[in-house]
Order: sequence, then structure tokens, then C-alpha cells
Amino acid sequence: MKIQENISLKQYNTFGIDAIAKRFVSVNSIQELKEVITAKKDVFLLGGGSNMLLTSNIEKLVVHLNLKGVIVNDTEKESVFVTAEAGENWHEFVIWCISQNYGGLENLSLIPGNVGTSPIQNIGAYGVEIKDTFHQLEALEIETGKTSIFTNEDCKFGYRNSVFKNELKEKYIITNVTFKLTKTNHKTTTSYGAIQELLTNKEQPTIKEISNAIIAIRESKLPNPEEIGNSGSFFKNPIIANKSFQLLQQKYPEIPHYIISETEVKIPTGWLIEQCGFKGKRFGDAGVHSKQALVLVNYGNATGKEIYKLAQKIQQKVKETFAIDLDIEVNVI
Ligand code: EPU
Repeated sequence: MKIQENISLKQYNTFGIDAIAKRFVSVNSIQELKEVITAKKDVFLLGGGSNMLLTSNIEKLVVHLNLKGVIVNDTEKESVFVTAEAGENWHEFVIWCISQNYGGLENLSLIPGNVGTSPIQNIGAYGVEIKDTFHQLEALEIETGKTSIFTNEDCKFGYRNSVFKNELKEKYIITNVTFKLTKTNHKTTTSYGAIQELLTNKEQPTIKEISNAIIAIRESKLPNPEEIGNSGSFFKNPIIANKSFQLLQQKYPEIPHYIISETEVKIPTGWLIEQCGFKGKRFGDAGVHSKQALVLVNYGNATGKEIYKLAQKIQQKVKETFAIDLDIEVNVI
């Protein structure tokens, strides 16, 4: 293992922010990871870099998790357990599962990032979250170097949330994740309107057809991080009390919303930001995507601080206009 100095992280984060790692090491095995952790506990972990905004250089040792491999445990009749190492690219993993006709992850096609970080925010799209097929994960405790197994229940998954964002934040390093996928009788989720429109074989679409539809929707709305730096949804969709929602609806009858429970309603942040006039706006190299206002973008050389300043400006305007506090979804570092 070679520790490198003063490495630009621009190619290691999908926002394309040019922050510097004072020291950087890439680990290719659990053994190497354990060695690094034993020698130094104060590390900064870097997976796919798809859910972070770097607002300054990193003084800690940056550990790039490059653990690769996929193992299949095929002992059940209708389902299969697939374990992927943390450093596997998420989308490539999803496409590989589909090529094997393993169902369950197709709605999560084209989400940037790596397998190891997917449980932290319980990634989700088009009616599916990883908690729906998640079986278990293995994680290394930074303090002791010991490996533990976390079941679905242990992870306490919620909307873009898990135990790893809360009480266990920065305490564990996820090294692999196991999903329970279907081999036959795939339970597909195609209720999302835009998916329906794209499916030619509407009665019994294959998981490949669903994945293709999702890819087409994402490509039409969301910027490709290889072309324009971004971290997907920058904010969460707020969940507000029914009473507050009704007041808003009187003023804005067209407000889109999803009923969560008898007392709560979820509002799409993209709509709130668009109403505030930010959609497609550009401030230097920091901007709001022109096709989905929930996504902040880096047109080339924006700094993390510039993107963060824009985020704060949006939060302030949404608060003034709708009396709603927007929570940031990405990790601001
Ligand atoms: N809308 C607008 N203007 C916009 C964007 C959206 O008015 O600029 C309104 C429209 O009414 C639209 C509604 O918002 O119908 C919902 O938009 P969309 O279907 O694009 O979904 P979203 O709620 O904005 C969430 C996830 C996405 C995920 C999609 C599809 C969060 C924070 N985001 O976005 O996740 O792909 O649903 O399931 O929950 C991500 O997390 O990075 C991400 C892209």
C-alpha cells in the first residue's frame, strides 16, 4: 500500500470538486483495510464519492475503498443471495444482476455510487429502496477492527436514512452487502407513471425492460455526473403536517404531494425550488439543473463552498416563501 500526498479528489467525487487530500491511500483487501485502521483511526473514508460535497481540503488520511468481487449463494428454489464487495460500482452491479435474471434491483438502475455506501442512505428510486431486497451487510468497527454483521432490522432503514447516518455515524466501515433477489416470479414495481408510459410490454415487463425504462427516465431528467458534476438530489423531500399542507394547498392549489399517513404529506422539493425561480439558474459554475430543480450542479470549476452557498440561498428562499425547512441530503464535508 502506498500513501500518496496532495492528491486532487476531483475524479473521486461525482460533484467534480477539486479538493485536495493531504494523504491518500487506496485499499484493495480487508487485510489492507485492517492494517490502515489499526495504524490510524482518524481516517476519511471514500467510496464512490457520489453523495458528498467537499467544501474544504481533507486533512485526515483519505482511505479509498477499492474492495471488489461478487459472490452468489444459490441454495434456495426461488431466490438467491448475492454478496457484493463495497467497492463495486452500484450500476454495474445492478446490470450484472439483471443479466443473471436476478430480480429486485432493476428500479435502482443508473444510481451513481458504490455498493458499500448504498445502505447508508437506503438509496431509493421509482417506488423501490434497497431495504426491500437487503439481506445483511458486513462492517468493520473502526475502534476495534472487528467485523460485525448487520441484518435489515439492525440497519434501521428509513427514507434516505439508516443507523449509519445516526447513532453509528463514522463508527463502521461497510465492507460488503448481501441482497436477497428473485430467480423466478419477480415482484416488479411499475406503478410510477413515467415507467408505465415507457413499457411496451405492460402486462408482464421483464426486469431488463424495467431497467431500460428507468435508465431512459433518469437520462432525460438527471445530469450525467461524467458530463456535469452533481450528487443527485441535493435535498430531501420534506414531510410536513397535514394541517400545514392544507394551508399551502389553499394558496397553491396545484402543489404536487404524496400522502404519507393520515397526518403527514410529502412535498417534492424540486417543485418548491422551481416555484422560487431557481430552476436552470447559474451562478458562476454553480447551478440548479434545468430539468430537475432538486439537483445542484457544478458546470466545471465550482468550489464546494460556492455550491453550499447556493444551497443556503435556496433554503432561505424556500423558507421565506413556503415556511418549509429543506434538509440537505448529501454529506457536506
Ligand atoms: N418537480 C417540479 N420541478 C422540478 C422537479 C420536480 O415541479 O424541477 C415536481 C413534479 O411535480 C414531479 C415531482 O416533483 O412530478 C417529483 O419529481 P421526480 O419524479 O423527479 O422525483 P423527486 O421527488 O424529485 C425522488 C428522489 C430521486 C428519485 C425520484 C424517483 C428524493 C430526495 N429524490 O425525486 O432520487 O430518483 O424520486 O423516484 O427522494 C437521489 O436521491 O439522488 C434521486 C435522484
